[in-house]
Amino acid sequence: MLEVRDLRVNYGAIRALHGVSLRVERGQIVTLIGCNGAGKSTTLRTISGLIRAASGDIVYEGKSIRSVAPHEIVRLGLAQSPEGRGIFSNMSVDENLSLGSFARGRHEKAAIAQDRERALTLFPRLRERLRQNAGTLSGGEQQMLAMARALQARPKLLLLDEPSLGLAPQIVQLIFRIIREINAAGTTILLVEQNAHMALQVANRAYVLEVGRIVMEGDAKELAKSDAVRKAYLGHG
Ligand SMILES: Nc1ncnc2c1ncn2[C@@H]1O[C@H](COP(=O)(O)OP(=O)(O)O)[C@@H](O)[C@H]1O
Ligand SMILES: [Mg+2]
Repeated sequence: MLEVRDLRVNYGAIRALHGVSLRVERGQIVTLIGCNGAGKSTTLRTISGLIRAASGDIVYEGKSIRSVAPHEIVRLGLAQSPEGRGIFSNMSVDENLSLGSFARGRHEKAAIAQDRERALTLFPRLRERLRQNAGTLSGGEQQMLAMARALQARPKLLLLDEPSLGLAPQIVQLIFRIIREINAAGTTILLVEQNAHMALQVANRAYVLEVGRIVMEGDAKELAKSDAVRKAYLGHG
């Protein structure tokens, strides 16, 4: 479904990605794990078209999207829930949700209403808080809103950037359960996480990113057993 080929990305004189390649098969959950600063968000933001690659290619459903505008990429079925959630604090939960369908046409009104209903069934807490200012939500609820908003684009491939960051363990469990549900309902997921433990449990395949390079890849459950991953990312000596 998605193939990232030898992606190099610079911030001015600083190279953040040194040739990242990865694949996402339709129907899977693929995770990209790595420490703070490894280049995980840069990878997702480049796939979404928010950052331009210096070289390499991004092929989505057989077509290069490397030079496609971000809103067009959303329209093709790729939506991102960004790191830090990107919630508009002074807007209501409902208004934040509506922003997720901005790239869809007027003729899709019925489908959009259906997707809104589906998201509110997935996240009942948001339904209880629809008229509330999004800034008054808890961290966990804001994460739910960021994911629900991304789902309003009816993505075929959902990009999640650190959904568990800063959340209490119980809420992390809940968020990961919902990630599974979204995937089971037919959405392919590329999940970026520092929480390797949770990410490797839920994913089919995994890539490990270190300072802008993929250093390991494979079946998620197999990687979770490898000594190198256990030592560096799972806190086992
Ligand atoms: N806007 C930016 N300008 C300059 N450097 C950046 C910018 N964003 C990220 N970087 C640098 O690029 C590298 C990768 O960052 P990032 O993709 O955010 O990593 P991660 O998401 O894995 O924590 C880091 O060294 C970071 O400091
Ligand atoms: Mg990041």
